[in-house]
Amino acid sequence: MTDYGKIAPYYDLVYEDVHDIAMYKRLAREFGEPILEIACGTGRVMLELAKLGYEVGGVDNNNDMLDILRKKLEKMPADMKHHIKIKQADMRNFNMERRYRLAIIPFTSFFHLSSTKDRESCLRAAFEHVINGGRVAVDVFNPDENREQGIVRHEATKTDKNGMVISKFSTSRMNKTAKAINCYHFIDITDKTGNMDRATINFKLHYLFSKDLKKLLEDTGFKDIKFYGNYDLSPFDERKSPRIIAIATKE
Ligand SMILES: C[S@@+](CC[C@H](N)C(=O)[O-])C[C@H]1O[C@@H](n2cnc3c(N)ncnc32)[C@H](O)[C@@H]1O
Repeated sequence: MTDYGKIAPYYDLVYEDVHDIAMYKRLAREFGEPILEIACGTGRVMLELAKLGYEVGGVDNNNDMLDILRKKLEKMPADMKHHIKIKQADMRNFNMERRYRLAIIPFTSFFHLSSTKDRESCLRAAFEHVINGGRVAVDVFNPDENREQGIVRHEATKTDKNGMVISKFSTSRMNKTAKAINCYHFIDITDKTGNMDRATINFKLHYLFSKDLKKLLEDTGFKDIKFYGNYDLSPFDERKSPRIIAIATKE
């Protein structure tokens, strides 16, 4: 399991520039509410939808990530909070006691699952939580097996509200046989005097190609599976697209 707890306090700052929110707003307009975010983390996506008045639900297994989300909820107006339900649970097995028009699995969370059985369980849970005619949207990166390995990449440097400079670096190595990527994320937290603390997390991502994801969605019972290649919902191109965004219907 990934220890998101170590990076939870910095997660929103580091990922505030991910350009997926407009896409989820578009999907919400098109497919309607309520909307369920599976592996919702700090609520980075679902709260943006809640702010527009949509009824949203979120499930995640990491209590530290959910604590950040709960703190954000405390600051929201009561009528908005009323339309938000969160639950600490595993994405392979949960019950929200509600059915949704749209279930979303954003930002590569699906690649945390390591076996076909786990992926099937997660998609089955999504299937069971959407109404007939409802949709599921899964967003993961499009694996590039020629990507240079072992490079340390600088992803962001931000200053937080306390004046701490937060920098995020990452490095990874791909095992093509296992279709797994061993990832290290380093978050450096530097105070005004230049003293630095580092939070490090190590986790594995288990990648799939679009054809694998298509088969999983079909085997779960989803129909009309469409693939897009980025957050502007441009057509998917196996060789060039940065993302695999699958949108499928429960008929
Ligand atoms: C990359 S974050 C994405 C969070 C959020 N969806 C977003 O887009 O910002 C991945 C999330 O998946 C959650 N996660 C990983 N494995 C999980 C599991 N088996 N069940 C539920 N949540 C899980 C982590 O706790 C983390 O919050």
